[in-house]
Amino acid sequence: MKKQSQLNVVLAGCGGISRNWLQAVENYPGLTIVGLVDLNRENALAVQQSFQLSQAYIGTDVGHVIEESGANIVFDCTVPEAHIHVTLEALKRGCHVLGEKPMADTMANARKMLAAAQQSGKLYAVMQNRQFLDGIVRFRQLLASQQIGALTTLNADFYLGAHFGGFRDQMEHVLLLDMAIHSFDQARYISGADPVSVYCHEWNPAGSWYQHDASAVAIFEMTNGIIFTYRGSWCAEGMNTTWECGWRAIGERGTALWDGGDDISGEVVTGTEGFIREQRLVELSDVPKLSHTGHAGVIHNFLDCVQHGKIPQTICTDNIKSLAMVHAAIESAATGKKVNIRY
Ligand SMILES: NC(=O)c1ccc[n+]([C@@H]2O[C@H](COP(=O)([O-])OP(=O)(O)OC[C@H]3O[C@@H](n4cnc5c(N)ncnc54)[C@H](O)[C@@H]3O)[C@@H](O)[C@H]2O)c1
Repeated sequence: MKKQSQLNVVLAGCGGISRNWLQAVENYPGLTIVGLVDLNRENALAVQQSFQLSQAYIGTDVGHVIEESGANIVFDCTVPEAHIHVTLEALKRGCHVLGEKPMADTMANARKMLAAAQQSGKLYAVMQNRQFLDGIVRFRQLLASQQIGALTTLNADFYLGAHFGGFRDQMEHVLLLDMAIHSFDQARYISGADPVSVYCHEWNPAGSWYQHDASAVAIFEMTNGIIFTYRGSWCAEGMNTTWECGWRAIGERGTALWDGGDDISGEVVTGTEGFIREQRLVELSDVPKLSHTGHAGVIHNFLDCVQHGKIPQTICTDNIKSLAMVHAAIESAATGKKVNIRY
C-alpha cells in the first residue's frame, strides 16, 4: 500500500453522526476537509457553518465533489442504502474510504464494495466504534491471557428501553439491523472467532412501542467450537445494560464478566475436589489506555494506516463477517431455520 501524507477529505452525509466524525478530526495534523456532500444541500451548509469549514466545496453528488475538491479520502456518513453508491464512486476516483456501519444494506452490495476495494488497491474500512473502548481491550486481553483457559462460550445481553420516536419505531428488524451489528462485531473481536451458523428468534414484546420486532435471541456457532449467544431488546424497561452489552465468557478453567463499562471480573478454578471446586479471582493486568476511543479511535487508526501504508483494524474484508451475522440472523428469524453463514 502506497503511503499518503496529504489527507484531503470529503465527508458525505451531513446528518446526525457526521458531527462526531468532524469533532474527531478537528485538530488532526495535515488533514483538511475539502468537501461536504449531502442530497439535502442545507445539511451540508449547516455543517460547514458549525465547523467553520469555509474552504470546503459543497455539493449534492459525491463524485462531482471529489473531482472538484481533489480529495484522496472519503468519509461516508450517509444512510445504509447509500453506502454502496458513495463507496463505489469514491474508490473509482482513487480515494480511500472509511464508512459508517453497517457496511451495506445487503450482503450482495457488501460483496460488490469489497471487490471494488480490492480491485482499486485503496483502503475501505468500516466504523465499528465499540472496538476502540478501554473496557473491551482489557476484557479481550484477559481472555487472551488464557487465565480462564480456552474460550468455549460467550454470552451477550443487551437490554434498553429506548424511545427513539423516529424512523426506528416503524423499522423492520430494528434491533438486528440497526444495533446488533455492534454487538456481533464485538463478539468476533472479543473471541477472535468467526461465525459458522446461527439460529435466531425475533419478536415484538407485548406493550411494545415499536411497530416491528424489537427483541431477539440468537445462538451462533463460531469457529473453534465456541458458542456465542445474544439476547437483546430495545423494548425492555428497567435495569438497563450498557449500550456495549453485559458479557459472560466461559473458558475451560474459569469465567470472566464485563459489564460493557469499567467493570471486569472473573474466577478460575484452583481446587481439584468437591462438588463446586475451589476458585480464585482472576488477575487483571495493566493495559495501556487507548489514545483515542469510540469514533475517534477508528478514525485515527484508519488515517494512520492511510499515512503509513498499513491495514486498518476495521477493514472491509474483516467487517463483512460481522455484517453476515446480522443478515443470517434475520434469515433465520424469518424462516425459523438454522442458517449457515457465508460472506
Ligand atoms: N457508529 C455508530 O455508533 C452510529 C450511530 C448513529 C448512526 N450511525 C450510522 O451512521 C449513518 C448515518 O446515520 P445518521 O443518524 O447520521 O443519519 P441522518 O439521517 O441524520 O443523516 C444521513 C444524511 O445522509 C444524507 N444522505 C442520504 N443519502 C445520501 C447520498 N446518496 N449522498 C449524500 N448524502 C446522502 C441525508 O440527506 C442525511 O443528511 C447510518 O449508516 C447509521 O447506521 C452509526
